[in-house]
Amino acid sequence: MLKAWPAEDIDAELIRKGPVAIVGYGNQGRAHALNLRDSGASVLVGAREGGTSSARAKADGFEVLAVGEATRASSVIMLVTPDETHRHLFESSLLPALQPKKTLAFAHGFSVHFKEVTPPAGVDVVLVAPTGPGTKLRSLYLQGQGLPCLVAVAQDASGGALGTALSYAHALGASRARILETTFAAETETDLFGEQVVVCGGLSHLVTAAFETLVAAGYPEELAYFECVHQVELLAGLIQRKGVAGMRQAISGTARYGDLTRGPRVIDEHTRAAMEAILREIQSGDFAKEWMGESRAGGKKLERLTRAAAGHPMEDVGRRLRALMPWIDPESSG
Ligand SMILES: NC(=O)c1ccc[n+]([C@@H]2O[C@H](COP(=O)([O-])OP(=O)(O)OC[C@H]3O[C@@H](n4cnc5c(N)ncnc54)[C@H](OP(=O)(O)O)[C@@H]3O)[C@@H](O)[C@H]2O)c1
Repeated sequence: MLKAWPAEDIDAELIRKGPVAIVGYGNQGRAHALNLRDSGASVLVGAREGGTSSARAKADGFEVLAVGEATRASSVIMLVTPDETHRHLFESSLLPALQPKKTLAFAHGFSVHFKEVTPPAGVDVVLVAPTGPGTKLRSLYLQGQGLPCLVAVAQDASGGALGTALSYAHALGASRARILETTFAAETETDLFGEQVVVCGGLSHLVTAAFETLVAAGYPEELAYFECVHQVELLAGLIQRKGVAGMRQAISGTARYGDLTRGPRVIDEHTRAAMEAILREIQSGDFAKEWMGESRAGGKKLERLTRAAAGHPMEDVGRRLRALMPWIDPESSG
């Protein structure tokens, strides 16, 4: 079981002792910057000149500096640009400004765990990973609630790295829910596994295959979309609120019987073997190597696959049906 850190065991003042640089002002970065500032921390934003983020951060009232300058001026530097940008940004802008005694923080363990970045020995290296998107992190904070957050330490040069990570997570509002201590390896590997086999890769391919099966059998595509794609939100929400067993209590006997007798035929030993193989690729670093190679080569394969998938006939059906339901907010994070 992960160790949980209650608010009373956290020094909330630590994060207010020196400036915090938020490098990247996107999904996570904006929420971190706003929550930290509202919790009393002094926040600078590191962004590239002329980018949309720079303008947005200035409009939100932050001082915006070049990434190297923000790093030099701060005690804690949170790198929240996309993982595939970390190596270049770290080597070109952060490393020259990363003097000993600073804390380098990440919201996902990928770059450190897979050695995309190798921080110098004198700095603390910590993970503060909210378990959800920045929009949720911010909206819960404003409601007086919090998003659970994972913390970990990869390098403890000062002897106080965990305390800094806990204080940062507390300022995000996470102790209003739960702050859990883990490792960079466990956070990174479980996060990649979950997104590949369930919440992104598994789910998207499951709904697409089910849609194709019904349409190939001659059923109207609107029905195939409603039953196999659109309804996912309802069931995912039930699972989030009640757990899998609770979801089963909330559905009809017919649905529950079909779930428990037919589900194991869809997720069978072949699926489990594929899951195990995918996990091994993550653990060995093969996935990270492949993805970083793809990204460095210009991301052409990702672009091609994304374009091909977006051209699937199911997308057209979805667009037409969503137009009939204006209450669906495409920007909502749930
Ligand atoms: N998204 C999530 O739900 C989530 C949850 C937990 C953890 N994380 C982790 O949080 C980190 C950030 O993810 P994110 O989704 O917040 O990223 P994101 O929204 O895609 O980040 C966009 C930001 O990065 C900046 N940026 C991109 N390339 C840059 C470069 N080469 N130099 C300087 N700035 C650059 C962009 O600036 P411009 O406007 O100038 O392009 C923008 O401010 C990642 O490590 C991710 O794994 C994400």
